[in-house]
Amino acid sequence: MSSSGLNFVERYEHVLDLSDRARSLGLALCRAQRHFGDFFLKTLLARVAGQVFWLHVALAKKVELLGPLSARLQFSRRSVTAEPPTLKRFQSELSAINKSLRKLRKSARNHVDTSLEFLAADALTRLEDCFAEIELWIDDGPTPVTMLAASDGLLRDCILYEQTGPARKGNELRDRILQKDSIRALYLSANAYLELSAVDIVSDLILIVDAERPNGFQSLIADLARQLVDEVRHAELLANRVADMGFEFGCAPVTLHSWRAYNSVNTLPEKLAMQHVLQEGVGLDASARNVKKLQDIGDLKSADLYAQIVADEMNHVRLGTRWLKRLVGRRMWKVVAKVEDVSKQIDPLPSIPIAVELRLACGFSRNYVSNRRLAHGAQDLKDHLPQWHNNCDT
Ligand SMILES: [Fe+2]
Ligand SMILES: [Fe+2]
Repeated sequence: MSSSGLNFVERYEHVLDLSDRARSLGLALCRAQRHFGDFFLKTLLARVAGQVFWLHVALAKKVELLGPLSARLQFSRRSVTAEPPTLKRFQSELSAINKSLRKLRKSARNHVDTSLEFLAADALTRLEDCFAEIELWIDDGPTPVTMLAASDGLLRDCILYEQTGPARKGNELRDRILQKDSIRALYLSANAYLELSAVDIVSDLILIVDAERPNGFQSLIADLARQLVDEVRHAELLANRVADMGFEFGCAPVTLHSWRAYNSVNTLPEKLAMQHVLQEGVGLDASARNVKKLQDIGDLKSADLYAQIVADEMNHVRLGTRWLKRLVGRRMWKVVAKVEDVSKQIDPLPSIPIAVELRLACGFSRNYVSNRRLAHGAQDLKDHLPQWHNNCDT
C-alpha cells in the first residue's frame, strides 16, 4: 500500500511503531555513551538520544490524545537489542527512522492531519542534521580506545586526574588568576568536561528509569531527555568559547569526581538526590557566581554563556527536587543529607557561597539553605531575607 493510502488506524499504528523505534534508539545511544571517549562524538550521540526521546514522547502524546480510539490500535513493543554499539548501526537505525518519518509526513499531509505533518517535518529537520554529523564521524573514525584516558568505566580524550583531599578552596586565588586569558580558557575547558560527566550521568539515569519504572514514569524520562540536550548544549557552548578565545580546547586536566559520587549510591532516589539536588545545586551556585565573576573580569561573552547555563540549571535542580519529593515524600531531605555525607568522602564539592534566591526558587527548603549559608560563615537566612518565617518552612 502506498504511504498516502494509510487509513486512520494504519497511520496511528505507524505512529506507535515509530515512537517505540525512537525510544529504542534513544536507549541504545544512552547505553553507548560510555563506549566512546571523543568529546564531540559523545555530545553528538547524546544530542541524537535527546532528539529521538523527544520524538518518542511527542508521538506517544499524539496517540494519547486519541482517547478511546487508541484501543483500536494493534502494537507490539520491540525489545531493545544488545547489539554492539557501532556508529554504522546507529546511522542505519536513524536512516530507518527518517524514512519512516517521511512516510508519516506524506500520509498526514494527504489526510490533512496538520499537527502530525508538522511534527514529522520538525523531527526530520532535527534528525537529518544529526545523520550528516554521524556520517562525518564514520568517515574519520573515533579515537582508538588505546589512545584515550580511562577511569571508572568511562573514556575521555583528555588528561584525567584524581581529586583528593577535603573540600576545594582557593576561590579568591582562582578568581584573580582567571583574569589571564590562558587560565580562563583552561577553566572553561575543565567545566566543559564537567558538563560531559553530566551527560554520562543523565544517560545512565534514563536507562535506570526505563528499566525500573516502566509505567507512570515516562514523564521523568522526558524531563531527563530534555536535560540531556541542555547538558550537551552547555558542553558545546563552553568548548566553542575556548576555541573562540584562540586556545586549544581539551588541554585542561579533568576529574570524574561527579560520576564517581553518582555511582557510589544505589537507588533511584539517591541517584537523583546526588545528581540533581546536590551536584546540580552546587553547579547552579557556581554558574551564578561565574556570571558575576566573568562580568567583573570584562569577559562578557563568557558571562552571557553562563547566564544561559544558570537558566537551564535551575530547571535541572527543579526536576530533582520535584521528582525526589514525588518518590520519597517528606524523607527527601534525609536522602539528600545521606548522599551529601557519601559525596564528602568521594567528591569534595567546591566551597562556594550558596545562591540563596535561586536555590529557594528551585524548591530547596529554607532550613537547607540556611544551614548551608551558616556552614560558609554567612549570616542567618532570617537576616538575609526579611520575609523569612519559621512557620512557612518546608
Ligand atoms: Fe549543565
Ligand atoms: Fe545541569
